[in-house]
Amino acid sequence: MSLLRLAVILLLLFAFSLGEHRSFTVDYKNDCFRKDGETFRYISGSIHYSRIPRVYWKDRLLKMYMAGLNAIQTYIPWNYHEESPGRYSFSGDRDVEYFLQLAQDIGFVVILRPGPYVCGEWDMGGLPAWLLTKKDIVLRSSDPDYIAAVDKWMGKLLPMMKPYLYQNGGPIITVQVENEYGSYFACDYNYMRHLSKLFRSYLGDEVVLFTTDGAGLNYLKCGSIQDLYATVDFGPGGNVTAAFEAQRHAEPHGPLVNSEFYTGWLDHWGSHHSVVSSARVAKSLNEMLAMGANVNLYMFIGGTNFGYWNGANSPYAPQPTSYDYDAPLSEAGDLTEKYYTIREVIRMYNKIPAGPIPPTTPKYSYGTVVMTQLQTVSDALEKLSFSGPVKSMYPQTFIELNQAFGYMLYRTVLPVDCSTPTPLSSPLNGIHDRAYVSVDGVSVGILERNKALTVNVTGKAGSQVDILVENMGRINYGKGINDFKGLVSNLTLGADTLLDWIMYSLSIDEAVSQGLLGETKPTDPPPLAALSLPAFYKGSFIIPDGIPDLPQDTYIKLPQWRKGQVWINGFNLGRYWPSRGPQVTLFVPANILSTAQPNNVTVLELEEAPCSSGTCNVEFTSTPILNATVQAHHEGDAYVKLRELGAAQEKSICDIH
Ligand SMILES: *[C@@H]1O[C@H](CO)[C@@H](O)[C@H](O)[C@H]1NC(C)=O
Ligand SMILES: *[C@@H]1O[C@H](CO)[C@@H](O)[C@H](O)[C@H]1NC(C)=O
Ligand SMILES: *[C@@H]1O[C@H](CO)[C@@H](O)[C@H](O)[C@H]1NC(C)=O
Ligand SMILES: *[C@@H]1O[C@H](CO)[C@@H](O)[C@H](O)[C@H]1NC(C)=O
Ligand SMILES: *[C@@H]1O[C@H](CO)[C@@H](O)[C@H](O)[C@H]1NC(C)=O
Repeated sequence: MSLLRLAVILLLLFAFSLGEHRSFTVDYKNDCFRKDGETFRYISGSIHYSRIPRVYWKDRLLKMYMAGLNAIQTYIPWNYHEESPGRYSFSGDRDVEYFLQLAQDIGFVVILRPGPYVCGEWDMGGLPAWLLTKKDIVLRSSDPDYIAAVDKWMGKLLPMMKPYLYQNGGPIITVQVENEYGSYFACDYNYMRHLSKLFRSYLGDEVVLFTTDGAGLNYLKCGSIQDLYATVDFGPGGNVTAAFEAQRHAEPHGPLVNSEFYTGWLDHWGSHHSVVSSARVAKSLNEMLAMGANVNLYMFIGGTNFGYWNGANSPYAPQPTSYDYDAPLSEAGDLTEKYYTIREVIRMYNKIPAGPIPPTTPKYSYGTVVMTQLQTVSDALEKLSFSGPVKSMYPQTFIELNQAFGYMLYRTVLPVDCSTPTPLSSPLNGIHDRAYVSVDGVSVGILERNKALTVNVTGKAGSQVDILVENMGRINYGKGINDFKGLVSNLTLGADTLLDWIMYSLSIDEAVSQGLLGETKPTDPPPLAALSLPAFYKGSFIIPDGIPDLPQDTYIKLPQWRKGQVWINGFNLGRYWPSRGPQVTLFVPANILSTAQPNNVTVLELEEAPCSSGTCNVEFTSTPILNATVQAHHEGDAYVKLRELGAAQEKSICDIH
């Protein structure tokens, strides 16, 4: 051996012993994590990049950093990145690598939760709807078709993630396998073992893989398996010691970890806005940190379910567009009283970085925008249905027609004269999820899953029946995640099954962003019906160039409008439904606004626009309203009750059967 080689080897050994080798491990002897050999405890916050515009990632991460957090946790929703089989998107708002890089540059380590199932109040818990093309697929199990799709996806995703592992120079310290699997009926250990092997094969033997389950033995039973470090999740207000005892049953040694400590709670359309007091959060957080536990605050910022991304709970209760969550940073990233309270708790355990906290972004009231009517959905079918109509004897579902999200129009005719009101029904509760029914161009009523299964119709034989069906978001938790959309069972008229359907798959987002929708012909005087036909409306407003600091964020409010979808400059902001609440305003991030051109507002109103009386406005305001009082809708309230129980066993809604 030459002297030079010896010198190099000695140098390498020296470097190694100095801790040049990055490592992250579980120390079972001392009940802690070790980072580069040193004891490490994380105080982390959840942030979902899929719910925040890319331009705001840095702002939100910096605010989290200034709260004293040393880690962030995020989900990777599969359906956000593989919208159709083999077609991947990882750019712009979906650039998860850029997000990880930003987090590392700011000084965080990352807890990654790549699914394949994530729950998260996200459409179908992050699973792509196209998995349902196999009708009887058993999701989250060893079903070979499901496994084949998972293997392919993970074969794409995990090699991308590998360079970002801590030991490879990146920020990712731990990777979660599946999500709260112990709450799922299948209890398929082979599936979990398969995932564990799959993750290991792509990520290597060094990475700490873990699972998360409710803090109860019944959850941990099917959720935890060997080689995956078992952690628990629970909210504030309960007995922290008792909750961690559940983890100790699965992991007698190793660090205590609460992977989802709830800072707030989710909402459902038709129930009250969830609020959890800062004092309650602070008390339990303090107790956990005093025990030396690792904690992830879920959510630290909730963000927004833009477009169609919200999920739903079962019995069917969809979540609204806002995912504010009453988190320490608001939906729009605003600093709240809860933020400062949590920061003071963290300060007792971690050094808070020096320097200013990025301020709350200013909001601007752009005022009132006059809206005018464009075509109805039925009149615009040729422009909206890119693939043209499909005929079939019985109705087909969204996925059979290769559509995942949004709206589909089902058309047939009255087979007989209905001179007296005749019930048009969905006897098997097959309206998924809401249907706007018209006969010969007159709205006759609304059908809604679990709620309204019949409307009366009159008309001559041969009258055209149009049924616009809205997918309001797929169930994200439990057995119901195989949530087919559209007319999923036959409709009847009187005693007869309605036959011979013409179905129009609708590409509304494309039509809106390409400006394809035309002005309407002068409308006939509105019929006596209480509802108008589903139709588009447009308006525009100018933000003058040269005013410093504009454009700024804002909120859109649709007073007297009932229910629908709204776009600005072709960007789908999400659903509005102020008549049901609790959400009244939608967050409009400044990055979709323009000072160079007029800003275009497009509204699809499904029930009744306030335009018949002449005035027809939307408003831009500087204050959000997420908590409007609503009439009680019982399913939603049941979830609120569960939360109010407040036990240590309190689980994410993702775990309530
Ligand atoms: C919390 O739970 C622990 C362990 O089960 C128990 O010893 C303790 O008494 C409980 N504390 C309270 C305040 O109930
Ligand atoms: C339909 O009409 C019948 C007879 O007029 C009435 O009893 C029933 O309540 C109506 N149903 C609905 C859903 O309006
Ligand atoms: C409609 O009814 C027919 C005849 O009973 C049946 O074959 C078909 O599967 C049903 N379609 C749906 C969507 O339920
Ligand atoms: C709004 O629509 C007009 C007319 O189609 C178009 O010229 C303009 O560029 C649009 N504005 C933006 C910001 O895209
Ligand atoms: C809604 O929230 C605002 C701001 O926190 C509060 O002032 C108001 O009282 C709340 N309204 C309801 C109905 O809870």
